[in-house]
Amino acid sequence: MSSVGLTTTFKNSVCAHKKDNMKLNEHLADCDSDLRELILRISEVTKKIAKGFASRQSYSDTRNIYGEQQMALDKWADEVIIDDLKGSGIVKYLASEEQPEVLEFEGATGDLGVTLDPLDGSSLIGVNLAVGTIVGIYRGNVLSPGNQMVGAMYVLYGPLTILTYTVKKGVHEFVLNDDGEFVTHEENIRIPDGKIYAPGALRKNYLPFHMKFIEALESEGYKLRFSGSFVADVHQIMHKGGVFTYPGFVSKESGKLRLLFEANPMGFIVTQAGGATSDGRRDILSVQPEAVSHRIPVYIGGKKEIDLIQKLSAEE
Ligand code: AHG
Ligand code: MN
Ligand code: MN
Repeated sequence: MSSVGLTTTFKNSVCAHKKDNMKLNEHLADCDSDLRELILRISEVTKKIAKGFASRQSYSDTRNIYGEQQMALDKWADEVIIDDLKGSGIVKYLASEEQPEVLEFEGATGDLGVTLDPLDGSSLIGVNLAVGTIVGIYRGNVLSPGNQMVGAMYVLYGPLTILTYTVKKGVHEFVLNDDGEFVTHEENIRIPDGKIYAPGALRKNYLPFHMKFIEALESEGYKLRFSGSFVADVHQIMHKGGVFTYPGFVSKESGKLRLLFEANPMGFIVTQAGGATSDGRRDILSVQPEAVSHRIPVYIGGKKEIDLIQKLSAEE
């Protein structure tokens, strides 16, 4: 047994089963009708986004509320998703990483609240690495703890366009096929035991308990895989096991990633797949957002890695 509790059992992790070629709309047949419509609408808009990369490679001259320079693609993806959901009637509230405030759609008869990172990993667009769209789904107020979500999804634009969703009945993955349909790729995904780690932030700025955590992973032979695209990195961890982290660090203890748009939806999906999430001390999904722009240290992955970071932080 390892002194830090990271011994890998190497159990066979293949819990998912494959059912080829079931279309997303069929898969959602038993879902609440507004949730089904929302997921299908987003799936249609993301097909459009997947075809829009080549002509939108430039930076725009605007910055978002985090001071980050927006890319043409960040703004366009934000617009096309908002335009679609605004007119849907089922979405009442929408918060986006690219918008300063929560939007309220007058005239909506439905009560869905949506959080949106329209394009995650956008600094990688120019070098053609995988990026994605991340969505959290609530009933009503989106400024609620993540454990109030009724669903979450992401679309990953890589060599394949992959859509992953959960409505708390398992985590299911679809691939955009040659006919332009999302069809089942993997159902009931469970995070396996594995040894991948994806560590964000600069090592020279690590806090002491985080340094101990990273050193424990390295001494256990965890392999480094950090691309700069949160959605792609967490997708890999969910399939191969291990942990993604963008910690709090010296001079910025809240870290970089955003609670509403990044940490909560991806943490919710991985939790539904049998993993866990933490800000180092507590489950991220239990945190009450203080503002749309709330940032939080992020650890997402297998339960044993999340238990370890919480143990190391408690020892300080
Ligand atoms: P976004 O493209 O939505 O602004 O998010 C970027 C995020 C996330 O995808 C990634 O994990 C992180 O920023 C990378 O940050 P560093 O460049 O500091 O590594
Ligand atoms: Mn992002
Ligand atoms: Mn983004």
